[in-house]
Amino acid sequence: MASESQTFLAQKAKSDEVKAELAEHPESFTMLTGDRPTGRLHLGHYFGTIIERVRLQDAGVKTNIVIADYQVITDRDTTEHIADNVMNMVIDYLACGIDPERTMIFTHSSVPALNQLMLPFLSLVSESELLRNPTVKAEQEASGHALTGLLLTYPVHQACDILFCKGDIVPVGKDQLPHIEQTRQIARRFNERYAKVFPEPVGLLTESVLLPGLDGRKMSKSYGNAIALSATDEETAKLIKKARTDSERTITFDVEGRPGVSALLTTAALATGRTEEDIASEIGDAGAGALKAYVTESVNAYLAPIRERRRELERDLPYIREVLAEGNRRATDVAQTTLDEVREAMGMVY
Ligand code: TRP
Repeated sequence: MASESQTFLAQKAKSDEVKAELAEHPESFTMLTGDRPTGRLHLGHYFGTIIERVRLQDAGVKTNIVIADYQVITDRDTTEHIADNVMNMVIDYLACGIDPERTMIFTHSSVPALNQLMLPFLSLVSESELLRNPTVKAEQEASGHALTGLLLTYPVHQACDILFCKGDIVPVGKDQLPHIEQTRQIARRFNERYAKVFPEPVGLLTESVLLPGLDGRKMSKSYGNAIALSATDEETAKLIKKARTDSERTITFDVEGRPGVSALLTTAALATGRTEEDIASEIGDAGAGALKAYVTESVNAYLAPIRERRRELERDLPYIREVLAEGNRRATDVAQTTLDEVREAMGMVY
């Protein structure tokens, strides 16, 4: 069996190959990616993946985004606020430049034919393969929740998301690569066992920087270290003010030694297009207070047009509902077509 690093290198090579092809024939690719509607999108999502989605959309790739509402209950017992989270997620997407004419936006729960793929797909994976997925294990531990059947099998559900629309590229961070490998295996096994229906999708490793939370830890709403796109300027200022730095006055960029200061520098760097070192040397002895003022100003300036569009969209909720309803209609058509092919390949036509 290939070691983990060998697998990674093979995936990286595939990703690079696809990137070269993408530059030449963007229109021949279908992207699928998505988010769990557990809260508001934040700057980490924005720089980590939203920008990349907009770029692929604008380049002419067929782009699809699933709002993974069923995935919310993989590791929690409640669907509280889910409708509100879904609506705000659509608003965030549109405010960031996702164009519903070109990108299909839909929710799991509205597309039954997508979910039906789960049954044949589950027959293509073994218990030990499911238990071996390192991301599932890490997520279960972080949640402090029991390993539910849905958490254990959600990578298969993601395979349904990707394959129902014959997605062949999935922009991902490194931690999501095991899921892509599982999806490829499911596609391959289905094609071998029945008939060639599915592509083997490639994980497109995004070059985007991983934006740490304001305290240097992983950016997460639950740590209170994430700047939501929907936050007001004042909320943003307050959050940045609260960020823990250190007692050294001179500002320097040192990710290991000074995680708090460095996270602030990276945030400002992304918002301004400058380098961390450049900003650090400009602030110099003025200290953390001056750095925070600069971060606040640059983040609020960067997000101003997005927040302005957000406010406009918020005033037209019927339009947001229509965008989602239309995405759900289109996804249902696509899913039904694929499910028909699957049943045909399996001889289940009566
Ligand atoms: N798991 C992803 C997240 O946590 C969301 C998601 C659902 C997804 N289905 C997907 C991502 C399919 C890529 C492909 O945000």
